Amino acid sequence: MPLPQAQRSPVEENEELQEIIAGLHQPEKMISPKYFYDERGSLLFEKITTLPEYYPTETELGIMRANIDEITALVGAQASLIEFGSGSSLKTRILLGHLDDLAVYVPVDISEELLLESAQKMRDEFPETEIIPVVADFTRQFALPNPTIMPKRNIVYFPGSTIGNFTHDAALELLKVMHHEAGTGGALLIGVDLQKDPAIIERAYNDSAGVTAKFNVNMLRHLNREFESDFDLDAWSHEALYDRDEGRVEIRLISSRDQTVKIGNEAIRVMAGEGILTEYSHKYTLEGFAAMAESVGFRVAKVWTDPNDLFSVQYCVRD
Ligand code: TRP
Repeated sequence: MPLPQAQRSPVEENEELQEIIAGLHQPEKMISPKYFYDERGSLLFEKITTLPEYYPTETELGIMRANIDEITALVGAQASLIEFGSGSSLKTRILLGHLDDLAVYVPVDISEELLLESAQKMRDEFPETEIIPVVADFTRQFALPNPTIMPKRNIVYFPGSTIGNFTHDAALELLKVMHHEAGTGGALLIGVDLQKDPAIIERAYNDSAGVTAKFNVNMLRHLNREFESDFDLDAWSHEALYDRDEGRVEIRLISSRDQTVKIGNEAIRVMAGEGILTEYSHKYTLEGFAAMAESVGFRVAKVWTDPNDLFSVQYCVRD
């Protein structure tokens, strides 16, 4: 789960502000999902993962638990486990708890503060495992560290169906990076949410307790604080619709009235009913994901699902 970013320099802050403004000038207004995760947003997201309607987290955990022996057998002895994201989720703990002869665990994240904090937690929990965090933007190739034990193969780990939050083009680029980091004889272990009855999907993003709505609107509170914008939090509501043709949930903030929002030196006009896109969550078919993985040089060697085929964990080899 992403967490608050470390302190930024004034130059970085201005670049981010310009990026937000550019997004609000697009034909369809959009703001990057990275602004979900201030401290409050991270807590709200944690709460989302425990909601009865939000099936992905529990289902993926169940799949990991039910198949952990088979998963560890495929990963094999003295592998390097490279997690795209800062790690320390329950899923990662299950893996590390069963992979007792890992060469090294390498969590990779752009946020140094969060990464080092979670790496230390994992060291306390798994004192026998060498843990080497790498501060990097994992959407681009990065250098792997040199562990004490020479790894026999690299296993890239990407849980949570975070791949679904990337557009197809961006997901392909990310898979190419994963293919590169896996190296010869390596593999990818990835959580991929599946297409299913749209009612189940829409419920997961429109929970009855309203936590997802709070999470979405919180992005505006975060922007108001960081960038001194003046979004009126009461004038925006949460919307999450599943588009069957695109196979994705589209999450937006909808303006309840005509209004002008000030951000930086800009005054952005918004009409009643107009939306700001804050996130996509793509759902895949098994065939669709396999085709994408194969197009970058992976072969899907094993797919585990739950009894209702809601979610999948997939082991893709590089050969
Ligand atoms: N990776 C999660 C998903 O797509 C993120 C998420 C869950 C999310 N609920 C959300 C993002 C609501 C935005 C709004 O399932």
